[in-house]
Amino acid sequence: MSKQRTQVAIIGAGPAGLMLARLLTLAKIDVVVLERQSRAYVLGRIRAGLLESGTTDLLREVGCGARLDAEGLVHDSASLNFNGESLEINYLDLVGKSVTIYGQTEVTRDLMEANDASGIACHYEAPVTAIDGLDGARVRLTYLTHGQQHTLDCDYVAGCDGFHGVGRAAIPASVLKTYERIYPFGWLGILADVPPCGHELIYANHPDGFALATMRSNTRTRAYIQVPADARIEDWPDDRFWAEYKHRLGPVSKGVTTGPSIEKSVAPLRSFVAEPMRFGRLFLAGDAAHIVPPTGAKGLNLAASDVRYLSRALIAFYASGDAGLIDTYSETCLKRIWKATRFSWWMTTLLHKFPDPDGFGTAMQRAEFEYLKSSRTAQVSLAENYVGLPI
Ligand code: APR
Ligand code: PHB
Repeated sequence: MSKQRTQVAIIGAGPAGLMLARLLTLAKIDVVVLERQSRAYVLGRIRAGLLESGTTDLLREVGCGARLDAEGLVHDSASLNFNGESLEINYLDLVGKSVTIYGQTEVTRDLMEANDASGIACHYEAPVTAIDGLDGARVRLTYLTHGQQHTLDCDYVAGCDGFHGVGRAAIPASVLKTYERIYPFGWLGILADVPPCGHELIYANHPDGFALATMRSNTRTRAYIQVPADARIEDWPDDRFWAEYKHRLGPVSKGVTTGPSIEKSVAPLRSFVAEPMRFGRLFLAGDAAHIVPPTGAKGLNLAASDVRYLSRALIAFYASGDAGLIDTYSETCLKRIWKATRFSWWMTTLLHKFPDPDGFGTAMQRAEFEYLKSSRTAQVSLAENYVGLPI
């Protein structure tokens, strides 16, 4: 028999929901996680894989650092490539911090395993269908398992249910304000079991479009190219992908090893922010509240900082009855989110090919690149955002 009452109900077992469950359980707050998809489906999703130091610190703090420390690849620099010309941004040298390449899939697996070991109630294939009582004394969630309807009562509910979830939809339209920018292109990404083309990530701006060389390990490459938003995977057999990718990387593509793809997908690019992130007893965290384009890989890192703030607020409330951090949750999160939204929009604007009938946008990109080359101050600004602003 499933529990019918908990302190905090968490909708969604993506990185945000799993990390929040972990943080609250370690603080002895009772949680139940409800996830629409199966466990295998959640573990099969391929997403970005670059962790800021604030995110790796958090994973270690919640006891999920062992595999990260053994297998994560620490990076001190990245390369920006403009039509073949390279600029190295050594963020360790510029701002004293590194980032770690460790796939979101691995983060998810580590959190799931740790949560299982702590006996956290996490129901898969259990979509939440209704949220009632958000402005009352107690919330009631309705969810399904095997076609049966159940209810779960809670003090608070965390909507960690991604962009298409039910959490944000439960905030009245008169309260919710959203901001959106849809970019006129997508990223076609492939995963292949071939060594990466070098140690560094390479972000390339090419007249035919953006390309990014990244990795998951020393034997697994992740590679992306900018494509039209309506591009179809069938039109991009591996040979065509690799040829275009090498063409856009230019001279550094000498180091590219090609091989059969083991995953291939197209992701649209958008910036989206919803305000506020709290309504009564509901909190939004992660993709439920905001989406950034993948340039700069801020999505997972923002999900981690949201749930760090949320766990602090709930832990303080249950320890002393003080709701101060609950009341400021939305404002605190949004400050950091807007800065990451700005940075990922800026990186996207700098590196992609946009419709540009009079050439002004392209000239601005070139001027920005020349400025970055000539100014350590500009490089420091890029680096401090790239490694992650303080939490
Ligand atoms: N009931 C239960 N679960 C739901 C429901 C629902 N009604 N609606 C959505 N979900 C689940 C989804 O199936 C998904 O597993 O919520 C989960 C949300 O997980 P993510 O989409 O991974 O979002 P989040 O945890 O915020 O992680 C953000 O994921 O999208 C990337 O780039 C993004 O890296 C960032 C990270
Ligand atoms: C990735 O490894 O998937 C990745 C890395 C850096 C980015 C985006 C994606 O900016």
